[in-house]
Amino acid sequence: MVQSILPPRLSIALLAVCVCVAGIAPVRASPSGHAPHGTVTIDGVTVPDIGPLPTAIPTPATNINYATKVELGKQLYFDGRLSKDNAVSCAFCHNPGTGFADSRQTSIGVGGGIGGRQSPTVFNTAFNPFQFWDGRARSLEEQAIGPIHNPVEMAETHEHVVPKLAKIKGYQQQFRAVFGTDVNLQGIAEAIAAYERTVLSTNSAFDKYVLGDGKAMDEGAIRGMALFKGKARCMLCHNGPNFTDNQFHNLGVPQVGPLKVDLGRYVVTRAEKDKGAFKTPTLRSITETSPYMHDGAFKTLEEVVEFFDQGGGSNPNLSPLVRPLNLTAEEKTDLVAFLKALTGETMKFSMPQLPK
Ligand code: HEC
Ligand code: HEC
Repeated sequence: MVQSILPPRLSIALLAVCVCVAGIAPVRASPSGHAPHGTVTIDGVTVPDIGPLPTAIPTPATNINYATKVELGKQLYFDGRLSKDNAVSCAFCHNPGTGFADSRQTSIGVGGGIGGRQSPTVFNTAFNPFQFWDGRARSLEEQAIGPIHNPVEMAETHEHVVPKLAKIKGYQQQFRAVFGTDVNLQGIAEAIAAYERTVLSTNSAFDKYVLGDGKAMDEGAIRGMALFKGKARCMLCHNGPNFTDNQFHNLGVPQVGPLKVDLGRYVVTRAEKDKGAFKTPTLRSITETSPYMHDGAFKTLEEVVEFFDQGGGSNPNLSPLVRPLNLTAEEKTDLVAFLKALTGETMKFSMPQLPK
């Protein structure tokens, strides 16, 4: 959350991050750097084509032996005891029932504290070289420990959460078995990250279509795909297998919610060009993760398409890549049909038993 990382918390957060992830290699593979599916040129700009995700999930060399870690990470992900009031788990805001995202406009944490940003999906975060709307965390390991001590999320302290979980026999035993250590913060982060890397949106109608099943998408969605790659210019930013260039852009999205201004990527880089720029989100399973944008400004995909058709919002720092599209009503419908075809296969899912 942007408010909570402002100084002095920023320094505390960064310190914690440095201590906890020292030695964790950055996740290198970026799907758009990967470009296994060729390229497409729009308006003179060449970008990696959209297509199925690579089957290999990018994983840092220091976080291995997933077989044992994933189950532990899943328990931690669903365990409210990571929060101060024992009620707010990761799943509270990244809910499997709503595409591992949050149906609230902006998130509500411990004690009803309202955050300034919309909770993004955990689907395919394994492929993100940057985490958060402003990209302030690199790896999922680094990201996972942030919410625990964020006052408007889980509001717990790292000093407190470790002994709290260490008192739970089931965690004690699993940490011994998985890491050969007592419960510790780095282990918590590694296990949660390992679990998150199994949360994937794949095998959508779009994937089936590009892999050769011509019937997987209907005519409208097929026309929508052509618009997405051409006239509607979406692929300038939503490109590669995960439908993101992993870059930051200012679309002039109206700022709603508790924050008056959100400077976005600027808070990380202090570069003028990054004022109000946010990370291009994946569009996979986008039907499940309404509301949309960093502040949840839009409820429906139709509203989002309308917004892009008008050339985004007005902002002095507006990306030169967005401009009015002059889409017809039918083209807008087709574009939405294509976005719907990006919904992944339903993940086999069961709630974990939480240890006592
Ligand atoms: C109170 C709601 C809330 C809770 C609890 C919460 N998150 Fe989040 N999460 C958010 C919001 C809001 C953001 C975006 C914040 C930002 O960009 O500044 C976010 C961002 C993320 C991201 C980055 C995704 C991306 O595409 O950039 C990941 C991954 C994530 N959270 C995982 C977790 C994990 C793991 C936990 C538990 C340890 C957790 N979250 C707990 C609300 C929450
Ligand atoms: C200039 C780059 C760019 C272009 C072009 C672009 N997008 Fe985006 N898109 C983004 C960014 C950045 C965001 C997040 C912006 C924010 O929250 O302020 C976003 C957000 C979205 C969202 C909401 C996702 C979510 O999880 O909240 C949807 C849906 C979307 N775009 C679809 C499209 C479609 C459809 C097109 C083509 C008509 C398009 N985009 C063109 C960069 C772009």
